[in-house]
Amino acid sequence: MNHIPLSWIFLQCAAVFFSSGLAENAVLKGGESGSDELPTEGKSLDELIKYNMRKSLDLDQEGCYLQQGKKECLEECGFNATAKTIFIIHGWTMSGMFEGWMHKLVAAVMQRESEANVVVVDWISLAHQLYPDAVNNTRLVGSSIATLLDWLQEEQQLPLQNVHLIGYSLGAHVAGYAGTYVQGTIGRITGLDPAGPMFEGVGEQKRLSPDDADFVDVLHTYTREALGVSIGIQQPIGDIDIYPNGGEVQPGCSLGDVLSMAGNFMEVMKCEHERAVHLFVDSLMNKDHMSFAFQCTGPDRFKKGICLSCRKNRCNNIGYNAKKMRKRRNSKMYLKTRADTPFGGYHYQMKMHVFNRKQSDNADPTFYVKLYGAHNDTENVFVDVPDSVGLNVTNTFLVFTEEDIGDLLKISLIWEGAADSWTSVWKNIKQSFWSWKTKPTNPVLEIRRIRVKAGETQKKFTFCAQDPSKTEISPGESLTYVKCRDGWEVKPRKRLPM
Ligand SMILES: *[C@@H]1O[C@H](CO)[C@@H](O)[C@H](O)[C@H]1NC(C)=O
Ligand SMILES: *[C@@H]1O[C@H](CO)[C@@H](O)[C@H](O)[C@H]1NC(C)=O
Ligand SMILES: *[C@@H]1O[C@H](CO)[C@@H](O)[C@H](O)[C@H]1NC(C)=O
Ligand SMILES: *[C@@H]1O[C@H](CO)[C@@H](O)[C@H](O)[C@H]1NC(C)=O
Repeated sequence: MNHIPLSWIFLQCAAVFFSSGLAENAVLKGGESGSDELPTEGKSLDELIKYNMRKSLDLDQEGCYLQQGKKECLEECGFNATAKTIFIIHGWTMSGMFEGWMHKLVAAVMQRESEANVVVVDWISLAHQLYPDAVNNTRLVGSSIATLLDWLQEEQQLPLQNVHLIGYSLGAHVAGYAGTYVQGTIGRITGLDPAGPMFEGVGEQKRLSPDDADFVDVLHTYTREALGVSIGIQQPIGDIDIYPNGGEVQPGCSLGDVLSMAGNFMEVMKCEHERAVHLFVDSLMNKDHMSFAFQCTGPDRFKKGICLSCRKNRCNNIGYNAKKMRKRRNSKMYLKTRADTPFGGYHYQMKMHVFNRKQSDNADPTFYVKLYGAHNDTENVFVDVPDSVGLNVTNTFLVFTEEDIGDLLKISLIWEGAADSWTSVWKNIKQSFWSWKTKPTNPVLEIRRIRVKAGETQKKFTFCAQDPSKTEISPGESLTYVKCRDGWEVKPRKRLPM
């Protein structure tokens, strides 16, 4: 229902987003009366692309600059060729300045990897252009990074396997070009919501792709489409492609959330696009609270809780902690997150067979669950059913909790009262009209047990009705399920030899 206003807003924003680039550029060009000269012209490549090696956590300090061919810079910067080398690459810029996320990411990388060489690739003047020109510059910047890496391999015997490029938005495709042009294979490239416009659907040579490094992992956070474009690329382009919250609507980024903080429509886009960076920062800082993503063929199946398996590498940590998997191209992975750091939460798959006992064919039940754990309980959590609850079949749901409630002890299932829903009121009226002799009776469903799998622990349990004689439920009622007396923990089935 709210798709129409959202995409309308998106269009408004996209217009501002792209045209303000035009406007700024016009200002830059102003005064040159018709000359086609770019503000970058007459500058050498060393001035346009700078490699700022960060030396201290104090981000006001300038650090020092690496330059291809200049050995003295390496010594001055204290470049350690046996340590990890991490390049951070920004994207298209409208302000012509580093954005706030850059400082957060640099600080988080340096804290996590204190010995690493952390290098910020500063291509601001080439990125502060009309979007199509900035896109055209990505190849140049990528090949410059490749040249620097080739020189470091030759001069310092730098093992490329220890090199990790982290690129945000357009920067992800810059990293892709670096991987294409370098002699050898870079260890890892992380794409943080890689840019979509002019990259969606193009050949692998013209965008980030799995061949650009030994391991390419991608976070997609803003893939919502309007007029056939999305700010973040939609298609999978790495070895693993993770779509937090379906890659579409990030919690905490809704218009209401952002406007309440005095933001504007642009802030909504920034919030969703930049969320990839903040999820990555979170993964660097909160090592003991990792978020898992689960492989799934699509967001709808994931929303139904079908894909919470970790067998055969079907789950992975997200962000910095992602584990390299044997080349498995374009494996899409999903998870839900909280709205703020720490972003990780807890996923549960619930399976229950819903028997239709009386008049429920048109009931369209709305369920809530409350989970009771060893540490804490949840509130009533709305059970999001993509279609409608299937009657006389086994239904699978996904329940997400923000808090670690500990081992699950008890579940309450609540059927929201029928009076709350206008459609069911209408159905009751129609029903009583046609069958005026009988008063409308409450629909009755029966649920005997609930099977639960915890995504984060992979533990499986079966819950039975607390009172075995009370397994039927009507609108406005709730039922409680506790661990079944006979073998409630489901032992993992023996794996069949393949
Ligand atoms: C260089 O990095 C390696 C690996 O992290 C480390 O063992 C070594 O102590 C570092 N050397 C210097 C001079 O910091
Ligand atoms: C793209 O950039 C190259 C330099 O890297 C330049 O020679 C070329 O004219 C640019 N093409 C377009 C279409 O802007
Ligand atoms: C479910 O089964 C009940 C009784 O077995 C039957 O009356 C009802 O029509 C069935 N409903 C559906 C949707 O299959
Ligand atoms: C239990 O959860 C509630 C929210 O559901 C929270 O306010 C409370 O702080 C939690 N208690 C503990 C001990 O974690």
